[in-house]
Amino acid sequence: MSYFKINKIDAIDSTNRALKRQYHASKIVHGEVLWALDQQKGKGQRESRWVSEPNKNLTFSVFLSPEKLALPTVFVLNCWVALAVRSALISFGIPTVSIKWPNDILSENKKICGLLIENLYRGKKHNGSIVGIGLNVNQLEFSDLKRASSMQLAAGRPFVVEEVMMKILENLTVYLTSGMAVSDSFSAFNKALFGLGEKRSFLAEDQAFQATVDSVNEHGELILKTEDDQYRTFQHKTVEWVY
Ligand code: BTN
Repeated sequence: MSYFKINKIDAIDSTNRALKRQYHASKIVHGEVLWALDQQKGKGQRESRWVSEPNKNLTFSVFLSPEKLALPTVFVLNCWVALAVRSALISFGIPTVSIKWPNDILSENKKICGLLIENLYRGKKHNGSIVGIGLNVNQLEFSDLKRASSMQLAAGRPFVVEEVMMKILENLTVYLTSGMAVSDSFSAFNKALFGLGEKRSFLAEDQAFQATVDSVNEHGELILKTEDDQYRTFQHKTVEWVY
């Protein structure tokens, strides 16, 4: 029996928003998945939009409840989701799949998937997570988004979107149920990091600088080694990749 219960719908504003509405109405259970064929107002990171051509891509969200799944740290969920998507893409033959901190999955140096994990709190207590996954599967045109790609563009053949989603969910089930040690999850995540050990350009507080990607720590912060051999730690949204 599947760990997840999948609800497929033709169209919605945003699967993340819809699950949040269900959460606030107390009409949601652990493992519920909302999969939309046409997501019309997709939500991206940093208040951006996630635009996805209808019927060609995957746009779905999963609700997880800490009552059923005690997370050792909130960030470990990001690791598991990113690793589950990455393994699925590798199993479909997508070349050079890496995780670009904090939430992008790339093939070569192009983004094919974005993750939006929204943690919900009651007071200070973690009360649920909505895991949103937007994966470009068979879309071929991205107009002005030069760094965007899809599975089909990367592999040169189309894919059945449902098969891709089922593979991601199968992989995610393994992470959620295997009791994998947090340290092993972090090291697998770090090994898959885009730019690991490479000198890259960044922007923080309006200052451009070059630094070597060192690792991501257990709080989900990016650690960079600067040109004067200092280690600097950045929280989400305090540094941008320039590339
Ligand atoms: C990003 O900006 O890279 C994150 C994009 C996340 C998009 C997915 S699509 C399914 C889910 N529903 C949303 O509204 N957003 C996420």
